[in-house]
Amino acid sequence: MKLSRKEKNSYWMPYTDNEWFKKRPKLLDSANGMYYTTNSGKKILDAVAGLWCVNAGHCREKIVKAVQDQVQKMDYGLSFQMGHKASFEFAEKLTSILPKTIDSVFFTNSGSEAVDTALKIALAYFHCQGKGEKKKLIGRARGYHGSGFGGTSVGGIVANRNQFSNLLNGVIHLPHTHIPEKNSFSWGQPKYGKEKAEALIDIINFHGSENIAAVIVEPVAGSTGVLVPPIGYLEKLREICNKNNILLIFDEVITGFGRVGDSFASERFKVIPDMITMAKGITNATVPMGAVGVNARIYEMLIKNKKEKIELFHGYTYSGHPLACAAGLATLEVYQEEKLFERAKGLEKYFGNKAHSLSKLNMVKDIRNIGLVAGVELEARDKKNKTLGRDIFEECFKNGVMVRFTGNTIALSPPLIINKKQIDLVFDVLSHSIKRCF
Ligand SMILES: Cc1ncc(COP(=O)(O)O)c(C=O)c1O
Repeated sequence: MKLSRKEKNSYWMPYTDNEWFKKRPKLLDSANGMYYTTNSGKKILDAVAGLWCVNAGHCREKIVKAVQDQVQKMDYGLSFQMGHKASFEFAEKLTSILPKTIDSVFFTNSGSEAVDTALKIALAYFHCQGKGEKKKLIGRARGYHGSGFGGTSVGGIVANRNQFSNLLNGVIHLPHTHIPEKNSFSWGQPKYGKEKAEALIDIINFHGSENIAAVIVEPVAGSTGVLVPPIGYLEKLREICNKNNILLIFDEVITGFGRVGDSFASERFKVIPDMITMAKGITNATVPMGAVGVNARIYEMLIKNKKEKIELFHGYTYSGHPLACAAGLATLEVYQEEKLFERAKGLEKYFGNKAHSLSKLNMVKDIRNIGLVAGVELEARDKKNKTLGRDIFEECFKNGVMVRFTGNTIALSPPLIINKKQIDLVFDVLSHSIKRCF
């Protein structure tokens, strides 16, 4: 089953070197549990849960059935001035696994939309109190918040910003928390770097808290190569935001739904933001969906102070799509029935130790881990040859394991159903592939 020239040209793949891919396409054909099967029949162990999203493993029967039943009953139900039961039910179920103060959920279709929605809610929250000047947004270097204009603007991965010359005004970035000279090979949260949060005080002193609406960070930065927050860092951000009436948004698109061994990273680190953005594991990636969880203060303020009949002029045709809600409800049941968040926590030590066992390879520069996430950062192979991460990815794929790469960092984030034997295999193949590619 080959791709024709016309097919190759027709599909412009996202975040991909299209020329490279189309020379030797790797095509997936089916998926089940921990495995993909390629179109040539090869089984691939999925060590990244798709794109950090298939937390319960692929093609789970309960979720598939829920979507099939729903599509037969009602394919689509509009969500502007109309509703359907599953969206209310799913929102309520979500709040039961979100931190206690997060009481309401706004549905989107992706993580990027969730981020843009949260930023707009922050602006609307101050606007409705007559504080429209409180509008600056603070992101962080190396942060990833999706591909919308809002998310790209607060995002801090330079390559993702360079091509777009007209991002949002009034965005300031905190420094990232990566301090390899002090923290490399930390197991879990690194010891040093809490003081990086104090840059927020400098920003406030310079710009004025009366001009700042919100701070958005990933509790664990994923796409930049797995940066775990230093001990005390998130607590400090929370404290400074509280003192200055600035909303704190945690982007939990990756860290939600058991990835870090609790329902959400906010629970794991015991730091509760004002808003949480989520997506990916929300439906086990079966149907695209994102959401923003907000605390009662924000929801009630907007309702109380509305000047028009509608309190938030924002939404999507597919907000609360019936298929996504059906998938989401079934997904939560699978997580709960199989205790997958607890399972992730139980496997953390084994997985983390296996990841850190790679430190004996002298080309490994750093290893970072938390929950069922690990980043293995490698020395540059040589300055001219920039494809090390990709070469390792290809070598792993050849050997039956799917990993992810960003620059010279290999990221692992398997479905939470992974077992110890499969963890062993992932790290054996990765170790072999690293050695092969140097
Ligand atoms: C932290 C974070 N926020 C937002 C997004 C964007 O999500 P989506 O690709 O669903 O738009 C991602 C995607 O990886 C992410 O990791």
